[in-house]
Amino acid sequence: MEPLISARNIKKYFDVGEGVLKAVDGITFDIYPGETFGLVGESGCGKSTAGRTIIRLYEPTEGELIFNGKNIYELSRKEMQNVRQDFQMIFQDPYASLNPRMTVEDIVGEPLDIHGIYKNKKERRDRIIELLELVGLNEEHSMRFPHEFSGGQRQRIGIARALALNPKFIVCDEPISALDVSIQAQVVNLLKELQEKLGLTYMFIAHDLSMVRYISDRVAVMYLGHMMELAESEELYANPLHPYTRSLLSAIPIPDPEVQKDRRRIVLEGDVPSPINPKEGCRFVDRCMYAVDKCREVTPELKEIKSGHHAACHRIGEI
Ligand SMILES: Nc1ncnc2c1ncn2[C@@H]1O[C@H](COP(=O)(O)OP(=O)(O)O)[C@@H](O)[C@H]1O
Ligand code: SF4
Ligand SMILES: [Mg+2]
Repeated sequence: MEPLISARNIKKYFDVGEGVLKAVDGITFDIYPGETFGLVGESGCGKSTAGRTIIRLYEPTEGELIFNGKNIYELSRKEMQNVRQDFQMIFQDPYASLNPRMTVEDIVGEPLDIHGIYKNKKERRDRIIELLELVGLNEEHSMRFPHEFSGGQRQRIGIARALALNPKFIVCDEPISALDVSIQAQVVNLLKELQEKLGLTYMFIAHDLSMVRYISDRVAVMYLGHMMELAESEELYANPLHPYTRSLLSAIPIPDPEVQKDRRRIVLEGDVPSPINPKEGCRFVDRCMYAVDKCREVTPELKEIKSGHHAACHRIGEI
């Protein structure tokens, strides 16, 4: 199968007072049509920046993003407008991302207005109601304001808005992290239903590995701007290869007490280092219990270790 998206060596740097902040520093991967590609890692490792750069909400520092056979980073502003419609984003905080002074009808209808999609008022209204029904809301909700809704409902409004232009690819940036646990599964199930119904492809960002497991086909693990491991979801959980992934997984309790009893919790030492002016070598080196001299000198490449399972570590096979 041809990938929907091919990201090649994507970098996004920010100039900050103290130097260059390398938020995303050369990530490469494909995302296939209909797939959910999970992206996980601790807060600050560059997930949101990666998501935004991929759909060119941020201008990349370097790299290629191939979509429909074209590198979208080379498209002019005008050419980019058509591609814009194919890419959407769902945000973590459904309240901050919805204008409090607009009705639900106008929030969901805004992308239609901007792109002048409908022929008349009725067509616009019908489409808005169709979108609300797709996400489990209805016509009665359309004249209300965001503050009148619960967190889960607000996220549904954000999803309806993201769907307005029939996108192909949606970056879901921690869409359930701010919601009550009881609501999280509902929103994840809605996203899955919509994916099947509308043939959507997702990048699903989370800081918690347990959350992405259920929704993702494949999962990539990020640490300080680098991709450390990439594999099919089940494979990653069953056979994590990278020391960082192993430490993340060891922090998740296993429901079976017999299994849990024999597990060793790998405690990460030290703090996450700063992404400003990072040194050559493995980004994980100061926290890794397997680190050797080479790890400080040479940056490990993300390599395919076995079919479909990639990892970036000099000591795979020894540890
Ligand atoms: N617009 C920006 N300007 C400067 N630094 C930024 C900007 N956006 C993000 N960063 C920095 O980039 C790094 C990655 O941030 P982010 O992508 O938000 O991580 P995550 O989503 O994984 O928590 C952090 O160190 C953050 O402070
Ligand atoms: S390359 Fe070295 S420091 Fe990095 S994860 Fe592997 S063993 Fe640890
Ligand atoms: Mg983020």
